[in-house]
Amino acid sequence: MKIGVLTSGGDAPGMNAAIRAVTRTAVNKGMEVIGIQRGYNGLINGETVKLDASSVSGIMQRGGTILYTARCPEFREKAGVEKAKNKCLELGLDGIVVIGGDGSFRGAADLSAAGIPCIGLPGTIDNDIQCTESTIGYDTAMNTAMEMIDKLRDTSQSHDRCSVVEVMGRRAGYIAVNVAIAAGAETCMILEKDYDVDAICENMKNIKDSGKKKHFIIVISEGVGNAEALGKEIEQKTGISTRATVLGHVQRGGSPTVRDRVLATQMGHYAVELLEKGIGNRVVGIKDNKIYDVDIQEALSMQKPFDDDLYQVLTDTAF
Ligand code: ADP
Ligand code: F6P
Repeated sequence: MKIGVLTSGGDAPGMNAAIRAVTRTAVNKGMEVIGIQRGYNGLINGETVKLDASSVSGIMQRGGTILYTARCPEFREKAGVEKAKNKCLELGLDGIVVIGGDGSFRGAADLSAAGIPCIGLPGTIDNDIQCTESTIGYDTAMNTAMEMIDKLRDTSQSHDRCSVVEVMGRRAGYIAVNVAIAAGAETCMILEKDYDVDAICENMKNIKDSGKKKHFIIVISEGVGNAEALGKEIEQKTGISTRATVLGHVQRGGSPTVRDRVLATQMGHYAVELLEKGIGNRVVGIKDNKIYDVDIQEALSMQKPFDDDLYQVLTDTAF
């Protein structure tokens, strides 16, 4: 058999570990492996590189993706999928492992429907893939954000300031809530939960007046609003000097954590086993610590309920 592997959409730490696992598992089963560069663009344009056991040596600990990644508007069109399918036939590919987010899975479903079996691996820091409890890159991004907030706390505390910190997550608050708990933030604002800036400010003033503490950390999720403007509003309403920090793309880089390396390796291994059986149009996930697979359309229509209990833990332990 000959299989392809590509990374698509936003990069995430652990994608290299997944590429390594796919390659090593496939090679050990006697398969040939082709790395497709820059996501679906590389498939349409034939940007490929042959991968073998040694070409994926030393990449486990590296952030980013050795295959590069991109967004490919052309692949959203029927003609783009047709071109990609023809390239797969030309390359003699029996299947493709697509590492990316839900957009990438929609593309993988289209390509599967066109006759090329595709397996999706959830690779995104946002953890916004409903069929899995954890995505590749999520744990590393949370650890990076937590370390950054620990540093911000040092300076906030020294100056008796409030720090408003914006973390990534597109439209999902998973990173924000977990990092807020782990970094001991006072509160966190996310799209999934109502919040009241006036009440937060009132609370801060009361805490300051009671002498309990004089510095504050507020984590906000991307999409909630402008961190700078919110910082100004808080400063004006509380009288507490406030600074805003947008952590940004630093959260997407760096060496993956143990959790992400192991998850990526398990998922990459599992994906090859599916392709070996001729199975396509599936997404791999982890549930109750077990790796499993689900139909792509079903995966895309699943709901992951917001963890209200976790938010309550933050609220009950913040002060
Ligand atoms: P992610 O996979 O991280 O969600 P994107 O939404 O940017 O990232 O999707 C990555 C790529 O997947 C896109 O550039 C496009 O090539 C493909 N894609 C996205 N949405 C669709 C769709 N609805 N149908 C087919 N392909 C899609
Ligand atoms: O999906 C990952 C992510 O980092 C989101 O958290 C963020 O909204 C988006 O990608 C940023 O995308 P770009 O790399 O195009 O700026």
